[in-house]
Amino acid sequence: MDRVRLERDGRPVLTDVSLSLNEPRIGLIGNNGSGKSSLVRLLNGLLRPSAGEVRVHGYNPADGPEAMAAQVGFIFQNPDHQIIFPTVLEEVAFGLRNLGRSRKQAQIEAQAFLDQHGRADWAERPVHSLSEGQKQLVCILSVLVMEPALIVLDEPFSALDYPTRLHLLDWLHSLPQQLLMISHELDSLERFDRLIWLEDGRVRDDGEPARILDAYKRASLAGVSL
Ligand SMILES: Nc1ncnc2c1ncn2[C@@H]1O[C@H](COP(=O)(O)OP(=O)(O)OP(=O)(O)O)[C@@H](O)[C@H]1O
Ligand SMILES: [Mg+2]
Repeated sequence: MDRVRLERDGRPVLTDVSLSLNEPRIGLIGNNGSGKSSLVRLLNGLLRPSAGEVRVHGYNPADGPEAMAAQVGFIFQNPDHQIIFPTVLEEVAFGLRNLGRSRKQAQIEAQAFLDQHGRADWAERPVHSLSEGQKQLVCILSVLVMEPALIVLDEPFSALDYPTRLHLLDWLHSLPQQLLMISHELDSLERFDRLIWLEDGRVRDDGEPARILDAYKRASLAGVSL
């Protein structure tokens, strides 16, 4: 993205952000309200820049979220923004239907994917009967089953228990696709290639994770007055 400016409700949310996102695993950190979720929403066309340009693998996300579905898989901060189907199997199969699979084929692949992640018995469960963390896992699996070229995760683990988080992190790292992950769980970002630190809608720092995490932790501690 190049010289991107974004206003929401007339207020600047991102100011002069220029980034080339080429590394396989990129983390995005920053305080509440710094603009992280807004920035990633530019990548799949859910938000459009007020000025500047955004391109994802040559595509312009302003063409709309539908056109971007095979390019960018987006896991939202809140699962209730994502889940639309009554059962887990239908939810996981939906994206595959959008990619052109028949109803039958989509269900077979979705079931196999649930099996692979140890959740075979969830297929017929009503989504509303799941706990928050279980819903979040359904959202994650629904996106990953489509194998998008870029996977964007907005605080994906906050509701997940420790074993599930470890399983998913390991699995995410084993995938060939590019990852862009927002997280307040700084430990989850240690294995990444690059971290970007947003502050008040600007890039405050950008680089090697160990250095960025250290700088962010220091700045956070300096701001705490107990
Ligand atoms: N739907 C919205 N309409 C208008 N302004 C919004 C909306 N959502 C967020 N904002 C504003 O945009 C700014 C950045 O918000 P954003 O959600 O991108 O932050 P964030 O870094 O993801 O924060 P968090 O860590 O809390 O998720 C904030 O000032 C916020 O008030
Ligand atoms: Mg956010």
